[in-house]
Amino acid sequence: MEKTRNTQISMDAGAPVMEPQRQFYYMDLAKRLIKEREKACGRKLTAHVETFGCQMNARDSEKLRGILDTIGYVQVDTEEADFVIYNTCTVRENANNKVYGRLGTLGNYKKKNPEMMIALCGCMMQEAHVVERLKKDYRFVNLIFGTHNIFKFAELVVRALTEKQLVVDIWEDTTEIVEDLPVERKYRFKSGVNIMFGCNNFCSYCIVPYVRGRERSREPKDIIREIERLVADGVVEVMLLGQNVNSYGKNLEQPITFAELLQEIEKIDGLERIRFMTSHPKDLSDELIRVMAQSKKICKHMHLPLQSGSSRILKKMNRHYDKEQYLALVEKLRAAIPDIAITTDIIVGFPGETREDFLETLDVVQKVRYDSAFTFIYSKRSGTPAAEMEDQVPEEEVKENFDLLLKEVQKIASEKAKELEGATLPVLVEQVNEHDSTLLTGRLSNNSVVHFSCFSDGVSGETPHADESLIGRIVDVKLVECKGFYYLGEMCV
Ligand code: 5AD
Ligand code: SF4
Repeated sequence: MEKTRNTQISMDAGAPVMEPQRQFYYMDLAKRLIKEREKACGRKLTAHVETFGCQMNARDSEKLRGILDTIGYVQVDTEEADFVIYNTCTVRENANNKVYGRLGTLGNYKKKNPEMMIALCGCMMQEAHVVERLKKDYRFVNLIFGTHNIFKFAELVVRALTEKQLVVDIWEDTTEIVEDLPVERKYRFKSGVNIMFGCNNFCSYCIVPYVRGRERSREPKDIIREIERLVADGVVEVMLLGQNVNSYGKNLEQPITFAELLQEIEKIDGLERIRFMTSHPKDLSDELIRVMAQSKKICKHMHLPLQSGSSRILKKMNRHYDKEQYLALVEKLRAAIPDIAITTDIIVGFPGETREDFLETLDVVQKVRYDSAFTFIYSKRSGTPAAEMEDQVPEEEVKENFDLLLKEVQKIASEKAKELEGATLPVLVEQVNEHDSTLLTGRLSNNSVVHFSCFSDGVSGETPHADESLIGRIVDVKLVECKGFYYLGEMCV
């Protein structure tokens, strides 16, 4: 757990108004309530957080886990727990369907354990029709909250534990950013760090600006302080998170650019790798490219969502760049940083997309030669401008283009990966290989995965096993063989 301030608050004084003191008060209260419940049932209470969606949600889940840990729940890897929290995503319709499907199973667990609490939070809860459906058809849910008040989790848990009815707390938007709450990290040696929340871009297909609210940047000093604490706690790699990191800092009282923030972060001793996502092509500055090219710590990887290669569709998507501008940007990046890995997101089947439009996308894919790409079939999100467009393309018609795109993306990605075969490169060791305990698994600066042997001096006669003490360290690995999307390698000693 990251260190947080040790706030001792008297229960008798009532809840403080100021944050985060108010939440520390409720954490103490929750701790007492949970102890009482433990006494009554004669065992420890368990909790499980299930994350759907993106890295923002993953980081939010670490914040939820930090609170759960502080208030005394034992975290388990099963949904048969005393408290289950679904941190939901709504970026595409199938994300919603997944949650409804799995809620049915949770309902059955609750029949076996009536004291079980179920909470739902995250992007999907910011949609009124979702909350209505849950209230009507999933009456066993105890707590529903949204994306803007996740910092209030401790307070909401106290309410859910004490009120015998469904607790719903959804905010439309917020300008509030609460610092210094506990966080439980998944990895000891790397961490996500939110640098901004929300999005102002309103790409016409995207629901994120409606469920995550307006763009708000954290103060640079708060970000730096958080990273310094993380480094003191063993972190060597940070992933700076924002929907559009390239517009970081524009709305701060003392504006600062993302490139300037990166330069400040680079100065932190002990921090070895800096990643960030996501970059919007329209805001990617020459200054950022220069800073990346000169940096020793910023990873040589740029996730640069294309969405479509057709200038006509890009306009309808409200992306503020066209095909030529995107290609020129890629050229500029590659000229300044020749070994940079470029990855992307692409949507197939946006309303009105013709075969010609799709071929433009394919053309960009072939010209840029992405190191990898996430490909999505357009999903109609009600409330977005694209949902109102007349010429929605039926999913069956999209499928053929989608399959063609996926094939091309995969072919190019494996050809690109092959180019590094034989090279020796630094790898951040992340874990013992899940399938073969003689191997370690880590990542290159360009984000590719490497499984490698390290030949630890195992006691003779024993089966060789990977040297776990290397986890969290950066070591040189020879990439012996490219296996398409990953490498097999050998550590250099
Ligand atoms: N349909 C399909 N894909 C979408 N994305 C965002 N909204 C939609 C949608 N309505 C994709 C975009 C974005 C990624 C996170 O999800 O490609 O970059
Ligand atoms: Fe959605 Fe566009 Fe904002 Fe990304 S930049 S979150 S795609 S609106």
